[in-house]
Amino acid sequence: MGKIGIIRAGFVSQAYTTLFMRAGYQVMLSNSRDKKTLFSIATRLNCQIGSQEEAIKFGDIILVAIPFINYTQLPAELLSGKIALDATNYYPARDGHLGQLDNHETTTRELVAKHLDKSRVVKVVNAIPAKDVIKDAKPNDKSDRRAIPIAEDDLAQASKEVKIHIIHGKQIINKKYKRLKMSPILLAA
Ligand SMILES: NC(=O)c1ccc[n+]([C@@H]2O[C@H](COP(=O)([O-])OP(=O)(O)OC[C@H]3O[C@@H](n4cnc5c(N)ncnc54)[C@H](OP(=O)(O)O)[C@@H]3O)[C@@H](O)[C@H]2O)c1
Repeated sequence: MGKIGIIRAGFVSQAYTTLFMRAGYQVMLSNSRDKKTLFSIATRLNCQIGSQEEAIKFGDIILVAIPFINYTQLPAELLSGKIALDATNYYPARDGHLGQLDNHETTTRELVAKHLDKSRVVKVVNAIPAKDVIKDAKPNDKSDRRAIPIAEDDLAQASKEVKIHIIHGKQIINKKYKRLKMSPILLAA
């Protein structure tokens, strides 16, 4: 099974750590301070902890769960060659206003992908509130699942790998999202 490094350890990071670990992945959480400050979280979730650099080196896949405005501080060279799952959302009240986004000239994913130009950036876990992530996960129950939108550059390739099913009137992403190796863990998998 693969390894997932997570940048930051807030609500999103902790929720997906639980799902990733249930699916058999090894997970390392990180924060911007001394990793000892994550001791209680690591004990509760039974995951590994490290610095941001250690988490990036650890993971084949990196979940980026930071306040959006900090994306320019992500270490692009260190993230080179990695799959970066971008969980960020743009909230002007928190992040300040960015004209390019307010004017719909670009998207958050495009900005993050431009910064992480040697990574494969996939916007994938930003649309479900962290409080719902665990309670709505239905890896073995096909009824009434939630959709989990995915956005990335190579949509032609992605469309071969991601099957969209309509079940109970909802769009469901098929579990075989092979290049991400995410099969049974996403909410709609
Ligand atoms: N929450 C949701 O429901 C949700 C859902 C989808 C997407 N998102 C997006 O995903 C990203 C991460 O969201 P999140 O809700 O997981 O973030 P969060 O829990 O608010 O915080 C993320 C990180 O910010 C720092 N931080 C926040 N509050 C702090 C405090 N009181 N004291 C010190 N440090 C603090 C911590 O990093 P350090 O320890 O390194 O300082 C923390 O790990 C954001 O872009 C958000 O918009 C959120």
